Amino acid sequence: RRLSLEEIVSYCRRRGFIYQASEIYGGINGFWDFGPMGAELKRNIKQTWWEDMVTRHNPLVAPAGTPSPFEMTGIDSSIIQHPQTWRVSGHSDLFSDMMVDCHETKKRYRFDHLAGRWIKDREGNPLFIAAAPDAPDADAFLDQRARKLLGISKSREVVWDSPLTDLAELDDFANVLAPHASEKGTLTEPREFNLMFKTYIGAMQTAADAAFLRPETAQGIFLNFRNVLDSGRFALPLGIAQIGKSFRNEITPRHFIFRSREFEQMEMEFFCPPETSHQWYKYWQQRRLDWYLDLGLRRENIRVREHEASELSHYALGTTDIEYAYPFMADGEFGELEGIANRGAFDLNSHSMGRLAKADPPELALDENGAPLHRGSGKNMVYNDVARGEKYVPYVIEPAAGADRALLAFLCDALEIEKLGEGGGEDSERAVLHIHPRLAPVKAAIFPLVKKEGMPEAARDLFGAMKRKWNVTYDEKGSIGRRYRRADEVGVPVCITIDDETISQGTVTVRDRDTLEQQRIKLDDCPAYLDKLIEG
Ligand code: GAP
Repeated sequence: RRLSLEEIVSYCRRRGFIYQASEIYGGINGFWDFGPMGAELKRNIKQTWWEDMVTRHNPLVAPAGTPSPFEMTGIDSSIIQHPQTWRVSGHSDLFSDMMVDCHETKKRYRFDHLAGRWIKDREGNPLFIAAAPDAPDADAFLDQRARKLLGISKSREVVWDSPLTDLAELDDFANVLAPHASEKGTLTEPREFNLMFKTYIGAMQTAADAAFLRPETAQGIFLNFRNVLDSGRFALPLGIAQIGKSFRNEITPRHFIFRSREFEQMEMEFFCPPETSHQWYKYWQQRRLDWYLDLGLRRENIRVREHEASELSHYALGTTDIEYAYPFMADGEFGELEGIANRGAFDLNSHSMGRLAKADPPELALDENGAPLHRGSGKNMVYNDVARGEKYVPYVIEPAAGADRALLAFLCDALEIEKLGEGGGEDSERAVLHIHPRLAPVKAAIFPLVKKEGMPEAARDLFGAMKRKWNVTYDEKGSIGRRYRRADEVGVPVCITIDDETISQGTVTVRDRDTLEQQRIKLDDCPAYLDKLIEG
């Protein structure tokens, strides 16, 4: 049986994966702390991503279906960058959500989260009727409200209109009616709300000292493109990977760690010749999908979805999302896990010359002298491709993953309540985390069968030796069945038991979490056994 989100939240707290941040002060919305198990799991996810992207990459071989071999490397850039970064990237102007405040509930809602529907009024003007997402009987309320406004009797159906794609068309905000519990309209007008966290550099705290916590790690890579290229003597195609914290002042953080205000991203910017970008875009879609599948996510819980033109971010020529069927989604619905975008030359051009975003009418993007309003650095981003005999501003393919969302998907996918018939078991079911051994927070649990006859000493010796390389645990408390259950629940792939045959013949029993099978191996072979299990 798969678990509900509520069950997963409670499991995470109980077993030391995730706690609400500042819990002893009542918590702080949108922030989470990772406990001993969660910190290990997240570290393993990030390490596996880094190994796949950078450490284990072979730059001498072209993967099937790609135009050439390529280089991969990594950086670790600062969270706070020059404020001009965000003007040029488009985040200062465009990285915002429409939101409304409800006077009645004193809550703030994202406009697109309202339980709202569109109709045309009697003059044919668009009219938005909305109820707060947590309002009781929202559907009945919307229906009744529409009838009243349009003067439609109960015997006729209300004809709902399709939503506006551009909210700017809804110029008469007086039309937005959003009673929560009463009939009175209580919402403010929708307004833009920038999602970047603001802070100040230095003691003066004037407007000129304002700076922002990065809302994505990507920009730190673009700012360092030339540095990496020149200092590393790299040739294109080149991928630059980075893992780190990002911050977004989300209006409605929700669904546990799915949408939080502080989270970690694993992003890679892949710089390539423009005419090969589509081929690389397809390559990275498949490669990122395979990463999740190889680490055990079930195919039926994953969907790959290409964005409609109207959904694309201001910088993207194309975007594909890898989506996961999170337990808080309705049946058949999926939520974003990772986005793979073709960003074209937008970022390098912007940081070089200034931004002329396609979303801006030209008169808004230029100053009175006709120069770009958001000035770039003036640094040259043209790459001299000696091998191809051409010069160009590289195009960028970006697989952008969230470490927290990946962690949530891996947990939701792997955690199960199973019926058991295991011999001697005192429980008829067990909670088990079938997580891939590479990701498992604890790699092995070591038990002495009983607390005598030299078994604890031998078990502690093995524990000490294994702990130098892996996060392993030692457990001597309770029956062996109970010790298995505790290990299963946090996804320990293998339990190693020291018994009398260890003392007399130097062998141990290893019990597999998933198959429940037990076999005897030599004590000295334990490290090699675990290595093979983890690396496959
Ligand atoms: N550089 C492109 C970029 O940042 P994005 O789709 O906004 O693209 C990439 O973010 C990934 O970061 C998402 O697919 C998601 O996994 C993660 N992410 C974004 N916002 C998040 C949030 N508020 N909480 C947790 N993860 C988030």
